[in-house]
Amino acid sequence: MVSFRKSLILTALPLSHREDFGSPVKLLCVFLLLGLDKTKHLWCFRELLMMRKPVITIDGPSGAGKSTISKLLAERLSYTYIDTGALYRVVALKVKQSGSDPENGEQLRLLCSNLHIALDYKDGAIRVFLEGKDVTEAIRTPEMSLLASRVSAEKVVRNALLAIQRKLGEGGGVVVEGRDMGTVVFPEAEVKFFLDASLEIRGKRRFEQYREGGKVFDRGTITQEIAKRDRDDMKRALSPLKPADGAVTIDSTGMTIEDVVERMLQVIEQYLSPSSK
Ligand code: DC
Repeated sequence: MVSFRKSLILTALPLSHREDFGSPVKLLCVFLLLGLDKTKHLWCFRELLMMRKPVITIDGPSGAGKSTISKLLAERLSYTYIDTGALYRVVALKVKQSGSDPENGEQLRLLCSNLHIALDYKDGAIRVFLEGKDVTEAIRTPEMSLLASRVSAEKVVRNALLAIQRKLGEGGGVVVEGRDMGTVVFPEAEVKFFLDASLEIRGKRRFEQYREGGKVFDRGTITQEIAKRDRDDMKRALSPLKPADGAVTIDSTGMTIEDVVERMLQVIEQYLSPSSK
């Protein structure tokens, strides 16, 4: 009969190449080879899996404060911040630059089969590159917001970006923000949030964000565009914007940025505390 130790090694080895489980599983194999007894094997395995840092997802509508809060949260936890909306915006920019039809599946398929996107984090800021060119500012316009929402409803685009997003988050220790992080991209994420706020406050925040970046648009128009985009993002057939099962919803309307970050840290601490395991 195969010994308990051998069967554990046989189970663990196929997992050891995976980045998310790789290190704990490799260490487990070492423990097993060193010959610890059955109770200690299980204890070590549990402890080693606990070493994996969690994936924290933040979904929500435009202007709810996801980017600002995700960045701060990632900084406080020393995790990596991943802005998935930027990926859809890059596809939108490429659609515009190439003159493609944003609803033509075949054109989008070709465009996505040759997508070179890179995200670079420096001094707390994220820079976005398309084919080696810095497009950080070019993707942050009302036009790109609407076009990103349009292309995000297309299956071929979602599939292409799904693989990129999972790769970016596979090691854990990430704060990922978007619309379908907790529902589709990381359904097994350890901590999930849905960040919301009233339409009025979201319009005001987005207007001020543009103004700080030296771009002045009409506040009413910005608010209407946000409302349209949210409707489209919530009504689309694929990965619609909605709270994930088990997500903690936070309405940031009357809260400061610091209040929201503190509330999230409380939830995360609760998850990480040994008594919650
Ligand atoms: O977060 P943002 O405003 O940069 O996102 C731009 C658009 O991209 C948004 O209207 C919908 C789409 N998006 C998506 O469908 N799924 C995501 N995970 C992130 C963004």
